[in-house]
Amino acid sequence: MTHSFDKNYWDRTWSGERAPGMSSGDPNPHLVHETGGLVPGMALDAGCGAGAEAIWLAAQGWDVTGADVADAALGYAKDRAAAAGVADRVRWVQADLSVWEPDTQFDLVTTHYAHPATGQLEFYDRIASWVAPGGTLLIVGHLHQHSSAGDTHPPATASATAAAITDRLDPAVWEIIMAEESHRFVIGPGGRPNAIDDVIVRALRRV
Ligand SMILES: C[S@@+](CC[C@H](N)C(=O)[O-])C[C@H]1O[C@@H](n2cnc3c(N)ncnc32)[C@H](O)[C@@H]1O
Repeated sequence: MTHSFDKNYWDRTWSGERAPGMSSGDPNPHLVHETGGLVPGMALDAGCGAGAEAIWLAAQGWDVTGADVADAALGYAKDRAAAAGVADRVRWVQADLSVWEPDTQFDLVTTHYAHPATGQLEFYDRIASWVAPGGTLLIVGHLHQHSSAGDTHPPATASATAAAITDRLDPAVWEIIMAEESHRFVIGPGGRPNAIDDVIVRALRRV
């Protein structure tokens, strides 16, 4: 890995030719599955990108904050929220979540594939601290795994295993509702199937 996943990297990514294809507009299926039964309240989507998940949550009745370091990503997100008729139910915040502090706690903090420069597990520690007692933490990330060549993919700094995440959630504070490593396919550019290897952890904050 020759670059850091810093603001400069994400700004360039969201301003480049890959940007329109980086979010299908469909919400992440793990979010839909894991939060569909929750009573809506205040939600934070940490590293919301082009906003598909934040917009879906708003349409389910959540009062949503979508936060991302990349201005260009939030530009896509705002346009999509307006087109979906939920602009008044999402607050978009441009922030580096490795230093930002919210002014409130949330009934749901969720993140999907956000990987900042500061390290994956440290990022999850931070966002977990923003969940209100009785609230839910939902992490959907890139699964950390070894390739046949012996290296790791995605890079260790951008991925995690389920055990690595749950080990950091104090059982006195958190009830693990589910922790899973899953494999699925999505149809990519040119109709080719792309393999997606996910780690998903859902936890309920007891206190
Ligand atoms: C791979 S994209 C995923 C976007 C979206 N969650 C999705 O699933 O389509 C990762 C997102 O995390 C954001 N991100 C990375 N580091 C961040 C940080 N330190 N603070 C806020 N957002 C960050 C990036 O700008 C990018 O939009």
